[in-house]
Amino acid sequence: MAVPLNIFIAGGAGFIGRHLVKALLARGHEVYGLAKDRMRGKVLEELGCRSIIGNLLTNGPWERAIEKFDVAIGCTMPGRRGQPPTMKQVPDLLKSHTDACSNLILAVHEGMLKGLILTLGVLSYGDHGEEWVDEDTPREPIGYGRFSGPAVHTLAHLAESKRVKATFMFPGWAYGNGSWFKDMLLPAFEQGQARVVGSGENYMSFVHVEDLAEAYVLAVEEIGYSPPPEERPVPQMFNLVDDQPTTQKEWLSVVARALAKPTPPSISVAESVQQAGELWTESVTCSLRVKNERAKSMLGWTLKYPTVHAGVPVAVGAIRKER
Ligand SMILES: NC(=O)c1ccc[n+]([C@@H]2O[C@H](COP(=O)([O-])OP(=O)(O)OC[C@H]3O[C@@H](n4cnc5c(N)ncnc54)[C@H](OP(=O)(O)O)[C@@H]3O)[C@@H](O)[C@H]2O)c1
Repeated sequence: MAVPLNIFIAGGAGFIGRHLVKALLARGHEVYGLAKDRMRGKVLEELGCRSIIGNLLTNGPWERAIEKFDVAIGCTMPGRRGQPPTMKQVPDLLKSHTDACSNLILAVHEGMLKGLILTLGVLSYGDHGEEWVDEDTPREPIGYGRFSGPAVHTLAHLAESKRVKATFMFPGWAYGNGSWFKDMLLPAFEQGQARVVGSGENYMSFVHVEDLAEAYVLAVEEIGYSPPPEERPVPQMFNLVDDQPTTQKEWLSVVARALAKPTPPSISVAESVQQAGELWTESVTCSLRVKNERAKSMLGWTLKYPTVHAGVPVAVGAIRKER
């Protein structure tokens, strides 16, 4: 391999972040993670990366420390860890996420890094029914897209005006060993509480978290090993989803099969709002059929798990093995 890259990651102790750290280390790169406190720093160190204590929302030594890196990654989630966000919190979460990403862009600019990757999500496109969605589709964010989607253009403009080479990632529902899949969906199946919300005919776009991490590695290397751009770099956007969007109903039946459980019954949208909140309900009923061609052709991304049929049994197996 070429000379290892020095990579800074904010959100490295999170669900996606942990998989990114592992994949980058496995490729031989040097990885430093930003941790909000020493305890979270330990999580990073256990993964094999070094930690820098700091918070993207506050000034601190992290801003100077960033100078020694080639590429920075932002993979943060606003709000409190372990507390599902609510619709009422959306304005604050949007502000906090936009500020965190803006501060990272400015630090990358000051530190003269080769570039940066930021993480948003496909829900920032909003509901598009049966229509296929690519990176040029207009955005009308809903659900969890509400606290990152409205900032896409502001952040892209900031990066471009500061001549920062920026890549914006739009992952689909990322499933694997952790987060909502492990801590919410699987226990709901085990307790007989999993439900199809509404008709279940809406499309959802998923990605196995290990495939997601692979796309970031390719993007990091594209930024890190490219010669400095002669012209003002235009921000790049990539949808990171598998090859086959699936309906909510089909998705839950695939998970049910992998767990040897019955396919869950349905509840109405109104019941779901009452039980799980408006933001979650909007997210799971949003119809999104997302294309991944750009990431495949421009990053050379290939998927180990091109469909949920291939990925879900593996994800369930990994979780069971750990228990
Ligand atoms: N999970 C999915 O299915 C999915 C799908 C599409 C898009 N996304 C997007 O991907 C991003 C990461 O998601 P995730 O599921 O990995 O989230 P997560 O597990 O909640 O992890 C988020 C990480 O960000 C860190 N963080 C938050 N605010 C920070 C700040 N101001 N400064 C430094 N670190 C900060 C947290 O630190 P602590 O560890 O100290 O709490 C945590 O490690 C989010 O923007 C999310 O919207 C996720």
